[in-house]
Amino acid sequence: MCLTKEQIEFYRQNGFLALPDYFRTAEIEVLMAQLPAVFAEDSPRRILEKSGAVRTVFASHVTNEAFRRFSQLARLVAPARQLLESDVYIHQFKINAKVALEGDQWEWHQDFLYWHKEDGMPAPRVLSIALFLQEVNDFNGPMLLIPGSHKEGMIDVSPHEKYSSAMVDASGQDTHGPIWMPTLTADLKYKIDKQTLAKLVCKNNICAATGRAGFVLFFDGNMFHASANNLSPFDRVSVCVAYNSVENPLHELSNPRPTFLASRDFSPLETVPDEALLEMRGGSHE
Ligand code: SIN
Ligand code: MN
Repeated sequence: MCLTKEQIEFYRQNGFLALPDYFRTAEIEVLMAQLPAVFAEDSPRRILEKSGAVRTVFASHVTNEAFRRFSQLARLVAPARQLLESDVYIHQFKINAKVALEGDQWEWHQDFLYWHKEDGMPAPRVLSIALFLQEVNDFNGPMLLIPGSHKEGMIDVSPHEKYSSAMVDASGQDTHGPIWMPTLTADLKYKIDKQTLAKLVCKNNICAATGRAGFVLFFDGNMFHASANNLSPFDRVSVCVAYNSVENPLHELSNPRPTFLASRDFSPLETVPDEALLEMRGGSHE
């Protein structure tokens, strides 16, 4: 599957591309069936909300065969290559749980700011896809986007003062846990100020990404996005994969985030056929 010229042009102008019903119900069922085991795994890759509910699980494409196949589907990788005009590799993979009543907010941010500042990614030649495993609607904390905001480039933000002055011991722990934890929680390390946000919204507006399970959103690493907490009684699990250009490898850092947050394997990603998920129906391929 390749994107049309019109789709590519829409993405370049708006910083995102929505593909409703991009995955079939049977494929979503294969991925949903993995979640109990993925969420139950006690691992540093699993981040919890303040309530103790699962917020995010990282790098399941390394530990789970269905998510490995998903992340390498030609249907996702070929458009990512088209949009980034090069081969790609997976910089980050995460499952955002946003569970009913407990799933907390994601403050406004540009992903690239984190990947640049925390991981040493040189340029914004990076995009993410989000696949909805469950319906996303007005009530369960949909992702909010500022269309066109990617064109502003990375808007530099200093770490929030409580994190810039954190006491860090020799093991990299501070009072908030691992030093990288505030790059992942509801209280984010880099916060855009209200005036800058207001200017962006006055210029570009806000829209909400809503749709049925199977909906896929491609979005630029510099596009501002956020989501509110989930006040509905229904979960809204989605999977996000960040594809980076192989021509944009991370700089070496003295104290990098773990590779489950920022991969340092820059080899070009190989694709698997679009049927690869359906082939797993009814069988165990672990
Ligand atoms: C994010 O990962 O930046 C938020 C996406 C979401 O709302 O699930
Ligand atoms: Mn994000």
